[in-house]
Amino acid sequence: MAVFDQSDQRREQASPDAAARHVPVMANRVIDLLAPGVEAARQQQRQPILVDATLGMGGHTELMLNRFHDVVVIGVDRDTQALALAAERLVAFGSRFIAFHGTYDQIAEALAAAGVSAADGYLFDLGVSSYQLDERDRGFAYSYDAPLDMRMDPTARFSAANVVNDYDPKRLEHIIRRYGEEKFARRIATAITERRKTQPFTNTGDLVNVIRSAVPVAAGRSGGHPAKRTFQALRIEVNEELDILRGALPAAMAGLHIGGRMVVMSYHSLEDRITKKAFQQEATSLTPPGFPVELEEYAPVVEILTRGTEKPTEEEIAQNPRAASAKVRAIVKIRPTRSNG
Ligand SMILES: C[S@@+](CC[C@H](N)C(=O)[O-])C[C@H]1O[C@@H](n2cnc3c(N)ncnc32)[C@H](O)[C@@H]1O
Repeated sequence: MAVFDQSDQRREQASPDAAARHVPVMANRVIDLLAPGVEAARQQQRQPILVDATLGMGGHTELMLNRFHDVVVIGVDRDTQALALAAERLVAFGSRFIAFHGTYDQIAEALAAAGVSAADGYLFDLGVSSYQLDERDRGFAYSYDAPLDMRMDPTARFSAANVVNDYDPKRLEHIIRRYGEEKFARRIATAITERRKTQPFTNTGDLVNVIRSAVPVAAGRSGGHPAKRTFQALRIEVNEELDILRGALPAAMAGLHIGGRMVVMSYHSLEDRITKKAFQQEATSLTPPGFPVELEEYAPVVEILTRGTEKPTEEEIAQNPRAASAKVRAIVKIRPTRSNG
C-alpha cells in the first residue's frame, strides 16, 4: 500500500462518468465542522492538512479544496478504481491533493505521504459508495446478478465467495447475525451450507435465491429486501470493516493537532456504536473518582462537538436517498494524546 499512482490502475475497468454519481452526504455541515481545525493551523502559521479517510469519488475532498484555498488534502481509499477516478477529478488541484492507496487505519503512512506526522482534520464517510454499488461486476448489490465478490480493494485476495463457500455453518450464522443484525441468520446459514454441498456459489443471483427461499415470505414483505442484511454482513466480513474502524479512530485522534477536528459519518448502528465508544473513551477523564484535582495526564483528550448524532434534513434525503441513514459525530482535540490511556 502506498502513495497511489494512476498508472497502477487499469483505467478501462471504471466508467468515466462515475465521479458525478456519488453525491457527498451532509457536505456543507461536514465542511463547517472541519473549518475551525483549518483556522487553528493558520493561526499557528502551519499549512493546514486534512485527511479524507474515505476518498471515494472525491466529492467531499473537492469541497474541502475549494472552500479552504490553502489546505492539502490526503485522500485515502482502499479501492484502486475509486482512487483513479477521484485523482482524475481532482487533477486541477495539483499538489494540494495527495492520493493514498490503503486502509484508513494506516494513518501514519498516509500522513507520511505528505511529509507530516499529524493533521488538522479527518473525515470518515463510512461504507460503500454509490459508485461501488453501481459497478455491477463488483458484486455489492443484491439487485443484480454478478460474481460473488464484494472486495472494496480489487487487489485483495479474499472475497464473498470465500465466506459463502468455505466458512463452517456456525461461523456463517454468527457473521450474518452479528454484522447483518439478521434474525433469520440460522435459517439462511443452513440453506447456504445445504446448497453448496452440491454446487458452490459463484454468483450473487444464486445466493439471493437461496436467501429468499430461507426467509419466511411475511418477513420479506415487512423487512425490506430479504438479502439486504446478509449482503451487509458479507461485505463487512470480506472487508474487515469493523475491526479496521476500531483501529482507525484512536489512530486518527492521536494523529490530530490540538484544535484539529474529526468527523465520522456512519450508515448503520454497528459503525455508529464503535464511533460513539471511541469518542467517549477519549472524552472521558481517567483521573480516579474522588481525586480532588484533575490530573493533566489523565484529563480528556477530545471534546465531543455533536449532541448525540446529527442527521441530514428531509430535503437532503429527498434529493439523495443514500443520505437517509447517515449519522454524524464529531470531536475536537483539546489535549495531547495520553500515554496512559
Ligand atoms: C461512502 S464512500 C465515500 C464517498 C466520498 N465521501 C465522496 O464524496 O465521494 C466510502 C469509500 O470509503 C472506502 N473505504 C471503505 N472502507 C475503507 C477502509 N477501511 N480503508 C480505506 N477506504 C475505505 C470505500 O472504498 C469507498 O470508496
